[in-house]
Amino acid sequence: MPESAVAPSEKADAYTDVRRRIDALLDAQTDWVAAMATVACELHHSFDYYDWTGFYRAVTEGRLLVGPYQGPHGCLHIDVDRGVCGAAARSRETQLVPDVEDFPDHIACQSSTRSEVVVPVLTPDDQLLAVLDVDSDTLGAFDDTDREHLEALCRALGTQFSDTTVP
Ligand code: SME
Repeated sequence: MPESAVAPSEKADAYTDVRRRIDALLDAQTDWVAAMATVACELHHSFDYYDWTGFYRAVTEGRLLVGPYQGPHGCLHIDVDRGVCGAAARSRETQLVPDVEDFPDHIACQSSTRSEVVVPVLTPDDQLLAVLDVDSDTLGAFDDTDREHLEALCRALGTQFSDTTVP
């Protein structure tokens, strides 16, 4: 287990708690940017091993544009044919990368990043709104517990904000 990781049971409990807070905060919320900002903040401050937490928005064909995030400076644009975020946007599937050095196309916005997970936010009719990107300075920080909880959260966001006109 990575040095700073919480035990799997504690991790699941932490996700349950943060999800409860996010659901309460976003109840009746209709603004997608406000929602992304709230999610980034709540997640980022719930896990010690989250070092960059935020969204890249699918605003233009072929390119992702940074959205609300927490952590150090993030790249402004990511072409969808590049990086872990691009792979998630193209495949519409979660990318779980235990060691970024094993992902040749990884974009190092921060040289300290060691592992990451990127989850697409899709509407029920399969429109890509954004990807949720979480980066850690810890090797192997993310596992199936992170994946399952983040996928459930992104599914809920994609449903609640399916009418969003992406700004
Ligand atoms: N690591 C990402 C780029 C985004 S940042 O690190 C904030 C990628 O390869 O897609």
